[in-house]
Order: sequence, then C-alpha cells, then structure tokens
Amino acid sequence: RSPDSLDFLRPGIHFTPVAGFMNDPNGLVFDGTQYHLYYQHNPKAAYSAEICWGHATSHDLLSWKDQPIALHNTPEGQAFSGCALLDTENTSGLFDGFDGPNIVALYTRSLPTRQSQYLAVSHDDGQSFTSYESNPVLDIGSPDFRDPQVLWHEPSAQWVMVIAEVDRHRIGFYGSTNLIDWTVLSHFGPAGLPTVNYECPNLIEIRDEGGKRRWVLFVSINPGSPMGGSVTQYFIGNFDGRAFTPCDGILRLTDFAKDAYALQVWSNMPDDEAVSIAWMGNWQYCQELPTPDWRGVMTLPRTMSIRQDTHGYPRLVQVPRGLEPFRQSLLSESAFSLNEASRREIGLPESGAIELVIRLTAAMPRPVEHGPVGPTINRFELAFANAGGERLSVGYDVPSSQIWLDRSKLRGFDHAFFTGRFSAPVDTTLYPDRRTLDLHLILDGCAFELYANQYLETATALVYPEQPFDRLYLSAEGTDFLIEALEINTLDK
Ligand code: FRU
Repeated sequence: RSPDSLDFLRPGIHFTPVAGFMNDPNGLVFDGTQYHLYYQHNPKAAYSAEICWGHATSHDLLSWKDQPIALHNTPEGQAFSGCALLDTENTSGLFDGFDGPNIVALYTRSLPTRQSQYLAVSHDDGQSFTSYESNPVLDIGSPDFRDPQVLWHEPSAQWVMVIAEVDRHRIGFYGSTNLIDWTVLSHFGPAGLPTVNYECPNLIEIRDEGGKRRWVLFVSINPGSPMGGSVTQYFIGNFDGRAFTPCDGILRLTDFAKDAYALQVWSNMPDDEAVSIAWMGNWQYCQELPTPDWRGVMTLPRTMSIRQDTHGYPRLVQVPRGLEPFRQSLLSESAFSLNEASRREIGLPESGAIELVIRLTAAMPRPVEHGPVGPTINRFELAFANAGGERLSVGYDVPSSQIWLDRSKLRGFDHAFFTGRFSAPVDTTLYPDRRTLDLHLILDGCAFELYANQYLETATALVYPEQPFDRLYLSAEGTDFLIEALEINTLDK
C-alpha cells in the first residue's frame, strides 16, 4: 500500500513525530510561558537507533510547534530518557548573569557498555543545550542505569533524583543541593510485578480528591506486563526526603490495554497540577507498526488525582486535559432507550478526531451481588465500523460488571503480540443503581483512548483499520439500556 493511503492513521490532536521513530516523552517542563515536550527520537528511520531528543513546544499541551533536535546522538552515547527542570535559584551556579528561564536537562548517555547521567543547561529557552564540562554527574559503572527524573523536595531542601537500576529491579533515590554532586539516599524494590527491566521512574506528589497530598512513584516495566510487553505500574505512599514507602502491597497499573508506556510528569506546573503524558507504544511491536515513515504517538495530556475506591484503596484517576477549545458538537442526545430492535447507526465524518461521552443504565436488575451469574447475556456494545466490515468495539457486560475493548476485528496490522482484547472490572458501587456506566472515548487516527467508570479505568490502544471508520453502532443484547446522555464531538485543531 502506498504511504499516502495510510494518511488517515496519522492522529490530529495527539502528538506524533513528523518522520522517523518516537518513544518516551522526556524533559517535560513548564518554563513559565510555554510547555516543553522532548522525546526519544530517531529522525532518520522509523525504528530505534542513534537516539536523540526531539523537541516541541506548546501553550496548551495540545497544539505543538516542532522545534529543532535539542540533544544529539554523540560519541559519548545516545541521548536516552531523562527530565528537564527549572533551576530558578541557580543552585547549580551554571546560570550566573543569565535572566532565565534556567532550564536544566538531566538524562542518560547510553553506550553498549555504560549508561551514565549527564547534565546540560540551556541559555535559549530549551532550544539547545550546552553539556556540563565535567559530565557525567552520576555514574555507577553500570550498563543498565538510566532515565533520571529530578524534583525539588522542599522539606529536605534538596534536589531528589529517581533513577532505574534496570536489571537489578530497583529504583535509586539520590540527593543533591546543586544538581551536580549526587549522593545515594535509598533504594526501592524489587516491588510489584516480576519483570525483566525497570525503566523511567517518576516521583510526584498528587492531591487526592479530599485535598490531601500523596506521593506516587511510577515505574515502567518491560517486558513483564500481564497484558504482554510494556506497562507502567505505580505505587502510592510516602516520601520523607530519603526513602519511598508504599502505603500497601497492592500492585497498580495505569492502564488495562497495551499502549501506555514510560509515563512522565510535567515539572514546574502552576498550582502543582499533576499532568502526565505517556508514549502510546509497546516494545513488543513498536518498530513494526504499519506506518513505515513514522512510528510513535503520545497520549493526550492527562490530569491526575487520587481517589479512595469503595474498598478504601487509593487509586489513580486520569482525565484528558484541555480539550474544550477543540470541541465541536456533532450530536447531543439524552434519555433514549436502546434495545435489541433499536440498534442505532450514526454516521461519522471521514477524518478528524472523534470524542464520545456516554452514560447508560441497564434496565435489568443486577442479578446477585457476588454469586454465580449463570449464562445471562446482558450487554451494551458501541462499535466504530467501516464498509470493509472492520469493527473497533467497546462494551459493557452487566452481569459480570466488566467492560471490554476489542481491536481484534481490524485488519491493518497483523502481529502475534498485537493482541486484540482487553477487559477491566467496573466499580458499580459508584452509581446509585449499580447498573450504570460512563464512558469517555477519543478516536484520533491510530490513537484510541478509553476512560471509564468515572475515570478510574483507562485503556490506551493503537488501532489499525485498513480504511477509515465512517459509522458508529450502538446496540443492546439481552436487556434494554437507557442512554442517559450521549455526546459526540469532533476534536480539531
Ligand atoms: C523506555 C526506554 C528507556 C530508555 C529509552 C531508550 O522505553 O527503554 O529506558 O532510556 O527507552 O530510547
């Protein structure tokens, strides 16, 4: 197939590289005026090699302006993942006589035999970086030591670095007062899922919905996801300036599908808003995706908070951020009923991102609280479809209180690891009648995001139909559903 015929797979509102390969987001920092997104990038070919830092800037985290390569692949190594921050107080002493913004990048230089941590400073608002003269600033002689993230910890008045000791399955915590001299504070792990590698740790304080601040440590693991390949897990707990202590032994994942990896958080956000972005990819197949000229998509920016679930466990809530200005209503309906005889078909525009927000309630009473459910079929399905008979479906199985995402009926990418079906339980106690569900879906070229159950569940999936979707089906099986509200919007820049 000609590359042009694949144009419809290129997202509009999700960030993608113009050409070549993109993986992890890096150096996420708000400089007081604009947001920076750096990213792992090979501009020359759509696979991972000679990695440098690509760069884009934005005023809203959604409309991005491409900028020149910010950190190059050099004889000292590829420019692997890392962070950027503002050294406003000039703690490093590297900004004497400069009036800011004092942007510092801390990242990994990667050679086959050695990974060490480099510091670089920018005197042109993040466009280019000057390497610190006595690099590396941290090197433990390991080939598997990477992806530093650094934050200012006010109570202990120091910079704290979290970094992956990749094959030792632990996260190193280091402290510094000048970003140059680092001393070890503690280690965390092994913890969570058994896996091959730990990568891209991120530590951030996130407010829970009661306003209380909780420390959250994100650790990306690969391979080892229960869904296969790469996944981001997270721990909620306390950080006292030295060590991270999880509040319980529970394992938590940010997503129930396969394409949200290397989650990173923005530093220097106004009001301490916790905003993340992740790479929509999985190392199992990211270098073989069917768009041969470019590969790599970022998730939408997401605001994160913490909510106590009905079992009393804190959990991450992720909400796509800042979409309002891009929204144009296509359809808005409320209080209609859907049954086996009344399948709805809704035409979709041929291009552009589609957002769908729906709240529905099953007419059936929920059978038994925790008992066997029997062979009862009571389900709602929503499917994006096209004339070729392909379908991307999302459904709600009421008796078992589970949702699914099914990309297996798309024919544009055939790969053993590109598995098709994902599911997650719904916390029904969030709804008065226990038979309701809310869904928020965004379909944008090959990027599909699903938020459900009041944003407690997120599924991020690449989707590869052979031709664009041009219609949407809503259907019910077994029981009637009341569609309390349905909104379909386009999201265009
Ligand atoms: C995670 C990762 C990082 C590394 C980078 C290389 O996806 O493997 O650990 O720094 O990608 O591109």
